[in-house]
Amino acid sequence: MQKNFTVAIDGPSGAGKSTIARRLAAHFGGVYVDTGALYRAAAVYIKNSGVSPENEGEISRIFSESPPEIDLRQGPDGQNVFLNGSDVTREIRLPEISTLTSKIAQSPAVRAFLLDAQRQSATSAPFAVLDGRDIGTVVLPGATVKIFLTASAEARAERRTAELLAQGVSVRYEDILSDNIARDTRDAVRTTAAPGAYIVDTSALSFDESFDKILSEVLRVREKA
Ligand code: DC
Repeated sequence: MQKNFTVAIDGPSGAGKSTIARRLAAHFGGVYVDTGALYRAAAVYIKNSGVSPENEGEISRIFSESPPEIDLRQGPDGQNVFLNGSDVTREIRLPEISTLTSKIAQSPAVRAFLLDAQRQSATSAPFAVLDGRDIGTVVLPGATVKIFLTASAEARAERRTAELLAQGVSVRYEDILSDNIARDTRDAVRTTAAPGAYIVDTSALSFDESFDKILSEVLRVREKA
């Protein structure tokens, strides 16, 4: 295998990127880099700093004057996220942080700061899988394999509704669908397939079917490498 085999998985929120990416990394004994978690930790940093997500000047200032230290560490129960030494693994999943993250992810200062962090983590292991909105297009245009994982807004909302109902959270499909559509609109410019990406639409596929398609593509490229 060539040195640093990198798999970039792009696609809209809720298409199943992280589950596929995690399983792919485990299959090859590699690392999974949850780039969304880095953005979420940056949002917590901005919130703790008391800076408005709309104030680009202030965001840019705090990121250059006192840049946060964000680490992804492998723990016994999966990946833990640390912000300036504090464990923020749980906090980054709060709904208010999801909303804030989608706003601060539009900040050029935040994106520039996280670009280096993401590129460094891609070289941290011989086999790395990164998922996000712009991994194959911007972060790793030279990734060994580029995947674009997508699904209709309706299919994504159905899965998310079932997932939350199974966890005992009472939600309405219509609300999840309209949230998805709003988030897709905000994320739209970053949610495009990279040139040469292998496109998988999972709307009508089971998880195993989606995974098998992607695994075949990775194995095909690996054999040629
Ligand atoms: O995948 P996620 O839901 O954890 O991502 C959280 C937010 O971060 C989402 O609004 C999109 C943004 N994001 C991004 O813009 N670029 C990435 N590479 C990863 C996440």
